[in-house]
Amino acid sequence: MSRFEIIKREDFSDVTYLLEILHPMMAKVARPGQFVIVMLHEHGERIPLTIADFDRNAGTITLVIQAVGKTTKEMQRACRVGTGLYAMVGPMGIPSPISHAKKVVCVGGGLGVAPVYPQARAFKEAGAYVIGVLGFRNKSLIFWEDKFRACCDEFIVCTDDGSAGIKGLVTEGIKQAIAMHSDIDEVVAIGPPIMMKGCAEATRPHQIKTMVSLNPLMVDGTGMCGGCRVKLGDKVKFACVDGPDFDGHLVDFDDLMTRLRRYTKEERMSLDHWEKNCRMQKQIEAASALPASPAPASKVKR
Ligand SMILES: Cc1cc2nc3c(=O)[nH]c(=O)nc-3n(C[C@H](O)[C@H](O)[C@H](O)COP(=O)(O)OP(=O)(O)OC[C@H]3O[C@@H](n4cnc5c(N)ncnc54)[C@H](O)[C@@H]3O)c2cc1C
Ligand code: FES
Repeated sequence: MSRFEIIKREDFSDVTYLLEILHPMMAKVARPGQFVIVMLHEHGERIPLTIADFDRNAGTITLVIQAVGKTTKEMQRACRVGTGLYAMVGPMGIPSPISHAKKVVCVGGGLGVAPVYPQARAFKEAGAYVIGVLGFRNKSLIFWEDKFRACCDEFIVCTDDGSAGIKGLVTEGIKQAIAMHSDIDEVVAIGPPIMMKGCAEATRPHQIKTMVSLNPLMVDGTGMCGGCRVKLGDKVKFACVDGPDFDGHLVDFDDLMTRLRRYTKEERMSLDHWEKNCRMQKQIEAASALPASPAPASKVKR
C-alpha cells in the first residue's frame, strides 16, 4: 500500500532525480537542514534523505536523490507520479541554525546543492546578503540555478571541466568570494565529505565560521544505535539527534570517510543481487510478451 503519494518527479541526470511527496503535516513543520527516513516498500531499507525543499501551502516535501546503490536505484526505477513511498518519517534532526549573519556564503557541491538551497533561502528571508557558490562536474549536471539566482545576491558556478563558470572546485569559488568580501560572517557547505573538508580548510585561515551537514551511516535515526557517531575534536556526537549540521572546523572528516566505507563489500553484494533479479524479471517479462509459439506441424489442422 502506498501511503505517501509522489506528485512530481524530475530527472536532473542519469543518476539524480527529484521527488515531490504529498505530506501536509510534515510540510507545515519542516525547517531547513532537517531530514526524513524513507522506506520504498514494506521490506525496503530505511534510508535518510535531506528535505531539499518544502511548500507549506501545497503541503509537499521535496527530496533530491542520487542513485548510488540498491535502494536509491530501486527508488529511481519504481518512483513515478501516482505511486508512493511506504513510509516517510520526519522531520528529523536539529534544524540548521539560521544565525543573524549579515553576509553568508552558501556552498553546494553536486547533490549538496539541493540541501543547501533551503538554508540560502532562509538566510535571504532573514535579511542576509547571500553569495551562492555551486559546484558540478560539468555544465550538463547543473540544476536549480534559477532557484539560487532568485535568493542569492551573488552567484558563482564552478565546474571541474570549465564548461560553465569558474574552472575548478567550489573552494575556488569560496576563495573568490573571500577575496571580494572581507566581511563574510559565515559559510555553509554541503556536499561530499571531501568537499566539505576542503571548504573548512579554505575558511580556517580566515577564521570564518563554517557549518557543514554530515551524512554518516544512519540506522534508527533516534540516537539509539550509535551508527551515525561523528568525531568533533575530543567529543563524539550522533549526527541524527545532535546534527546533522556541525562546525566544520571541528569535524574529523577522515574518520567520517573511513566509517562511510565500512560496508562497501556488503553494499556491492546487495546491489549485484538486486540487479541480477531485475535482469531475470526483465527476461521473464520479455518472454511472456512473445507471441505464442506456433503449434508443431503434426498438430496443425489442414
Ligand atoms: C542526514 C542524511 C541526509 C542524506 N540526504 C541525502 C539526500 O538528500 N539525497 C541522497 O541522494 N542521499 C542522501 N543521503 C545519503 C543516502 O542516505 C544514501 O545514499 C543511501 O542510504 C544509499 O543507500 P543505497 O542502498 O542506495 O546505497 P548503498 O550501496 O547501500 O550505499 C551507498 C553509500 O551510501 C551511504 N549509505 C548507505 N546506507 C546508508 C544509510 N543507512 N545512511 C546513510 N548513508 C548510507 C554510504 O556512504 C554507502 O557507501 C543522506 C544521508 C544522511 C545521513
Ligand atoms: S542513526 Fe542510530 S544513533 Fe543516529
